[in-house]
Amino acid sequence: MRLQTFLAFVGLLSPALAQRILPGAYIAEIKGTNTDAFLDKARSSGIKVNHRMTLDQETSIFHGISFDLEDDTPENRAKINSWGEVVQLSPVRLYEATAPVAKRVTEDVAKFISKRSGAVTVDNYPPHVQGGVNKLRAEGFTGKGIRIAVVDTGIDYNHPSLGGGFGPGHKVAFGTDLVGDAYNGANTPVPDDDPVDCAGHGSHVAGIIAAVDKDFTGVAPDVTLGAYKVFGCPAQSAGNDVLISAFLKAQADGVDLITASIGGASGWTEDPWALVVQRIVEAGTPCTIAAGNDGDQGLFYASGASDAIGAISVGSVNNLNSPEVLTSATYSSASSNNISFGYTPATGSFGSDTIELYVPTSNGALTDACSGLPGDVSSLGNKLVVIQRGTCTFDAKVQAAVAKGAKNVIIVNNVPGTIAASVTVQNVNVGMVQPETGAAWLALVKGGETISITFSKSAPLFITAVDNPLNGGSMSTFTSWGPTNEMFQRPHVSAPGGNILSTYPLQFGGYAVLSGTSMATPYIAGVVGLYLQKAKNEGRKVSPAEIRVGLTTTGRPLVWNDGNKNATFLAPVAQQGGGLIDAYSFLHSTTVVDKELLEFNDTQNFHSSLDFKITNNGKDSMTYKLTSLDGATAYTTPAGSTLPQAFPPDLLQSYATVSIVPDTLDIKPGQSKRVVVRVTQPAGLDATRIPVYGGWVNIAAGGQDLLKIPYMGVGAVMKHATVTNFEEGFPVLLNSQNQTITSNNTQTSRRSPPGIAWGLVLGSAVVRVDVVSVSKPDNNDVAVFSDKTVGSFPGYPSYWNSRTAANENTTSLWNGKVVKTEGADPVNVPAGTYKFVYRALKMTGRKETGRDYERWESPVFNFSG
Ligand SMILES: *[C@@H]1O[C@H](CO)[C@@H](O)[C@H](O)[C@H]1NC(C)=O
Ligand SMILES: *[C@@H]1O[C@H](CO)[C@@H](O)[C@H](O)[C@H]1NC(C)=O
Ligand SMILES: *[C@@H]1O[C@H](CO)[C@@H](O)[C@H](O)[C@H]1NC(C)=O
Ligand SMILES: *[C@@H]1O[C@H](CO)[C@@H](O)[C@H](O)[C@H]1NC(C)=O
Ligand SMILES: *[C@@H]1O[C@H](CO)[C@@H](O)[C@H](O)[C@H]1NC(C)=O
Ligand SMILES: *[C@@H]1O[C@H](CO)[C@@H](O)[C@H](O)[C@H]1NC(C)=O
Repeated sequence: MRLQTFLAFVGLLSPALAQRILPGAYIAEIKGTNTDAFLDKARSSGIKVNHRMTLDQETSIFHGISFDLEDDTPENRAKINSWGEVVQLSPVRLYEATAPVAKRVTEDVAKFISKRSGAVTVDNYPPHVQGGVNKLRAEGFTGKGIRIAVVDTGIDYNHPSLGGGFGPGHKVAFGTDLVGDAYNGANTPVPDDDPVDCAGHGSHVAGIIAAVDKDFTGVAPDVTLGAYKVFGCPAQSAGNDVLISAFLKAQADGVDLITASIGGASGWTEDPWALVVQRIVEAGTPCTIAAGNDGDQGLFYASGASDAIGAISVGSVNNLNSPEVLTSATYSSASSNNISFGYTPATGSFGSDTIELYVPTSNGALTDACSGLPGDVSSLGNKLVVIQRGTCTFDAKVQAAVAKGAKNVIIVNNVPGTIAASVTVQNVNVGMVQPETGAAWLALVKGGETISITFSKSAPLFITAVDNPLNGGSMSTFTSWGPTNEMFQRPHVSAPGGNILSTYPLQFGGYAVLSGTSMATPYIAGVVGLYLQKAKNEGRKVSPAEIRVGLTTTGRPLVWNDGNKNATFLAPVAQQGGGLIDAYSFLHSTTVVDKELLEFNDTQNFHSSLDFKITNNGKDSMTYKLTSLDGATAYTTPAGSTLPQAFPPDLLQSYATVSIVPDTLDIKPGQSKRVVVRVTQPAGLDATRIPVYGGWVNIAAGGQDLLKIPYMGVGAVMKHATVTNFEEGFPVLLNSQNQTITSNNTQTSRRSPPGIAWGLVLGSAVVRVDVVSVSKPDNNDVAVFSDKTVGSFPGYPSYWNSRTAANENTTSLWNGKVVKTEGADPVNVPAGTYKFVYRALKMTGRKETGRDYERWESPVFNFSG
């Protein structure tokens, strides 16, 4: 089956897209296994290809090769694509380690932690309590005997908490480096045998799964890890050829689960990496993949390959307690002697010094110094000035103190915890303390006492847990939202991923607190490890679907939080899927269903009913009561606009009406019954804003909630929704200087080529640009729907295009050639006047149907050849 010719190769790439497609590099999926024959054929046809990777294992999942095309012309690509043994030729796409959104590397915590006494006997590590892992650990589940592949930056296996070695018998027992330390995504991978981590991300991920530390353990400390290193150091991007190769190797190594905290905007299941994930899952190996950290982009921004059919897509929930790594110091006054406190340095260093506090107040409170320091102070050169956070920038506060001669400033936080304040003022030392420290100082000063602080260069760092009342326990706002461009829901389930302490390479300090769906994904992977251990103990084989359904339907839906406070209603399914993992019910539920999600599609393709099966695997007959639970409806766009709304989208407490038949069921042990669900879309919605509604079918028995199946749908006809970013003036005709041309008859030539720039406000499966001769209509011998054209712009059609991120666009320059039939060699057109006709296929539209496309035509331009 020939799925597509070229994914998205355009003459000139915008910086954003250039990062996603590697110019000149391609993956050919081939029939059979003979990649040498492919290379021989290239050589004998005079096409210079440099071998990148052989994408092959003794499994039948995928056979292919990736290569750099020395002379990257449409002619050469068309030739290769025409060979009988080539199933599909696609460009190499680059993906990122789903970048942690916050990062604090702690230089000396390693020393500090190793000095603390006592091993962990009871698992009371807050993220484990949050997701129910502690209860499974209390039952003795540790993941023993389960092998998990971590596709990431490698693992620092020398870390004592990650086993202190590599190879059989060690915690990190197998794996390989597919790329070499110098790999940056753009150069050719140079594999070696040693998957040691030189970037950090993978060691953090590995620790979340399986660390055994004095202060905490991973979710499944006895699993065996395989490290498949797909990034160099520093980690930049990884090509999908590398990712495919890593997944195939891991599957061939017979692992029980593959996990990847890697992704990039997609929303289509047709990328080769997504296809390989789908086939690996179909062959029996579950895959957990991060949902992405693009929550700020709003709805319809699913990430690849978590959008693959069968993948388990993981969202992030914030830790209830944020671990804070603080530097210690002490303060003394008449009534307080040598009291220890912690701070986070911002700029400079307080060194080893004892210094007196200056605590200016306004109206009895600490001053925010936004209109300068109050009172008549002159030189503060030998004082440490205390200023409250808020109202103005950190720089403004620091500047106010510096204006009075200060060289040292402490900012008191106005929310729990501390941050490393961003200060650009030079020659001043700045740090931040928690609100309670500031309050204690203020009380002493009000009592007439003088406070002095003692700093020490060798002061130990320490970890403290800070309650997070703003958004602890809620969905992390960075989690990417669904649905996909085909109305499938992602993420499936969420786990603690915001503010997570874990292991880090020894060379970077040994520990770090990071945030991301990258951190939530290994948590779920660890829980799957515990599940598989239990099944193995019971002598039971488990399918990936059983795991996906179990994880999603045992989740606990969370209330909406915009980053600052909890609402009184539940967050949209589009953001959270099944909600926070409940690891204990995942392993122990004796009631199971056979669907993880009920996806009702859009208004036009609406499923009038969906059904699922409940099975009672328990020992007793059960009477189940089924009800529906509402999640907020989210609008994709603001009123009167086609541009997707940045986080937070407008939410409505308008809910679908859900009919569940039957809603009471008696089921005997070992038996199953079918349930039919119908929804009526919420009333009064503005369909032009693309509302996404959803909720959960709640299954209870004996007054206890057992399972919740998320349902969702889109309250609009997606075929009517605008996909092209017309609103911001796209597409546009460009001159060779990238200037927008709105008038007719601009002079262009091969040396001064015209171009086109376009952007999408929703994903489009096909974007095409065709060229029409205006001066010689007889030359228009290729029909493209209603247009007679001379052929298509080389590189188009472009398939499986994701929504364009805010403020980005795709630019292509025209070289005066056209392609008459897809896959054929481009040919020159004669001098004359021309125009471009752009088309983008609307969502759910059919590729073959002209009216399913949006159409735009450019001004007319002269092309002198
Ligand atoms: C102050 O306390 C620290 C530990 O918090 C200790 O190391 C130091 O010796 C104490 N200094 C005095 C003067 O008591
Ligand atoms: C906000 O909600 C989450 C769960 O939805 C909960 O864990 C957390 O404690 C709540 N926060 C506050 C301050 O109530
Ligand atoms: C929704 O309908 C479109 C068009 O028929 C189809 O391609 C897509 O797979 C459907 N999605 C779901 C979740 O049913
Ligand atoms: C036009 O824009 C593209 C990408 O947006 C850039 O690579 C190219 O250098 C620009 N050309 C000029 C002449 O500015
Ligand atoms: C350019 O020419 C087309 C006809 O080919 C005409 O419809 C259009 O109005 C013209 N645009 C301008 C800006 O003159
Ligand atoms: C397209 O994107 C490029 C690169 O970000 C930018 O320089 C250019 O101005 C954009 N083009 C338009 C027409 O907005």
